[in-house]
Amino acid sequence: MSEQHAPEEHLFRPAAPVRMGANLSAQEIEQARAWFADNPEGFWEQAAKELQWNEPWHTVCDDGDPPTWFAGAKCNIVHNCLDRHVHSANRNKLALVWESEAGETRKWTYFELSREVNRLAAGLRRLGFQAGSVFVLCLPPLPETVALSLAIAKIGAVQSHVFVGYAAKVLRARIAALQAECVVCADGFARNGSVVGLKEIVDTALDSPEGDSVELTIVVPRLGIKQSLRTDRDLAYDDVLHPVHGNEPTTALDSDHILFVQYTSGTTGTPKGVVHTHGGYMVALNRTMNWVLDIKATDILWCQADLGWITGQSYALWGPLLAGSTTMLYEGHPLYPKADRIWRIVEKAGVSILYTTPTLMRMVKRYGPGFPAQHDLSALRLLAAVGEPLAPEVWLWWHEHIGQGQCPLLNTWWQTETGAIVISPLPANTLKPGSVGRPLPGIQAAVVDPEGTPVPANTTGHLVLYGSWPGFFNGLFREHDQSFAGYWSPSQKTYWTGDLARQDADGHLWILGRQDEVLNIAGHILGATEIENGLLVHPGVHEVAVVPVPDKIRGQAAKAYVVLKEPHQAGDALKTALTELVRQELGPVVRIKDIVFVETLPKTGSGKILRRALRDSPPA
Ligand code: WT7
Repeated sequence: MSEQHAPEEHLFRPAAPVRMGANLSAQEIEQARAWFADNPEGFWEQAAKELQWNEPWHTVCDDGDPPTWFAGAKCNIVHNCLDRHVHSANRNKLALVWESEAGETRKWTYFELSREVNRLAAGLRRLGFQAGSVFVLCLPPLPETVALSLAIAKIGAVQSHVFVGYAAKVLRARIAALQAECVVCADGFARNGSVVGLKEIVDTALDSPEGDSVELTIVVPRLGIKQSLRTDRDLAYDDVLHPVHGNEPTTALDSDHILFVQYTSGTTGTPKGVVHTHGGYMVALNRTMNWVLDIKATDILWCQADLGWITGQSYALWGPLLAGSTTMLYEGHPLYPKADRIWRIVEKAGVSILYTTPTLMRMVKRYGPGFPAQHDLSALRLLAAVGEPLAPEVWLWWHEHIGQGQCPLLNTWWQTETGAIVISPLPANTLKPGSVGRPLPGIQAAVVDPEGTPVPANTTGHLVLYGSWPGFFNGLFREHDQSFAGYWSPSQKTYWTGDLARQDADGHLWILGRQDEVLNIAGHILGATEIENGLLVHPGVHEVAVVPVPDKIRGQAAKAYVVLKEPHQAGDALKTALTELVRQELGPVVRIKDIVFVETLPKTGSGKILRRALRDSPPA
């Protein structure tokens, strides 16, 4: 692969209070790396000891395909997310704060959440559900959603959250793949000011042969939509609750018992049902809560991802509760009815950690600094992003206008398959805008050529992870035999992430996007992202997607779909200016052959730009 120049660097050293207050100081980060290099199992065993177990493990990592973490141990993530807090000083602390798009708010303490979970778990058991039963949840982020997730896991049943924005067709496919026995939904929800009738979508999905496995639907009466429940299949949420005196038992499970199945967004081909388990997942997740998000007893964490994505699962649901902190759930569009909604919520609830996505960051930037400036954002102390490449321009804007130059802004890298963050700067680290920092202590990553040989610094290659770690997925649901095909090479103990990256001389990683989103221009391999970042430097550009088009001389050339902040600026003069800008930013080899101004870009449900769709079927 071709030699590339490292992007121009700005360095941001954390402010003294951040450096001094971080859960892991710069020195401790290096100590942790050395410790892991010296004794990887001891390193993860220590992480596991920070949580509570019913029975200890006999082997830290049982080398199999896939490996089993904490083999022989019994545990339940719900004991760690809930039961232990109710018997600690966290008992009356807020577990969750909820706000609806219409502005209603609700708050539950750990005690209140636990009371609800106990009654739900007892009710589910009475209905005959048990360890191994499979639930599909199609719910907006409500307090009840959290309670249901915990209750299902408490009895050892399996859950899969499906994004509420999907059509019946997707839901039906998920139900069939999972062979789900129970679907839990809300009657509806509001988004962007309009009401979506969720129950109707669920009914459509179930009234087909694919819905045959489902014995019961549980309906949360969110909006009070008048509809008759079907006597053969439906039960109202309140009718599941069963009175309990004291604690409803939490089932002690094998460490590798399935907690949830998360379908990947399907950026690359057919969605895969990625399995995460109670033991390993909670250990890895808990580590990242402490080390990356730097969680403190006083924090309110707002992770803006929907629970239908792994980011929402890990950092809006399980992670904050594991840490005994408070999760902010917002059921609506963060820029509705106006672009300052997000900042009103931060101000009102005192959100201290905001975990967001580059898509939303670009939208916020587009509306300008006036909206955040109207609000008191002084509670914010840490910002983080995940999901797509974060352009340095966007990083710099957020660092200045949202973080007031004080908050660390962490560009975290991970995947549905990794369960939790695996590559990220830590708050005490010096930050390089655009970079995802280094692998966390406990994670080994490299940039390699297609044969698996590491490439020199500043050279583009494939991002791989070596060995296993507790958050690593446990295969694909009901596809045990080919779980690791295409991902994992057992002989090399190498996990191929599918992303292209570069590592600079300091060991910092720069993600260039998925390997199927590259351009080969006259033998120079470039990530679509690199060219997009060049275009985003222009102040008039809001969003952009670059795809390859055939070129007689160079093999491939770049075609850019550009969304402008002010659509009326579109024209040949701007095309010339943008082409020239990319020449300056990336060198004369990167010639943009065609620029098309569009109003929006096609996206996946989780907000990733669908470059493949633009490439395969260009808009007319
Ligand atoms: C893919 C994983 C895990 C949460 C997000 C969605 C891309 C993720 C970054 C980042 C550049 C990123 C990668 C990765 N991605 N974080 N910080 N910079 N790209 O999980 O749907 O499994 O997608 O998201 O391409 O492989 P997912």
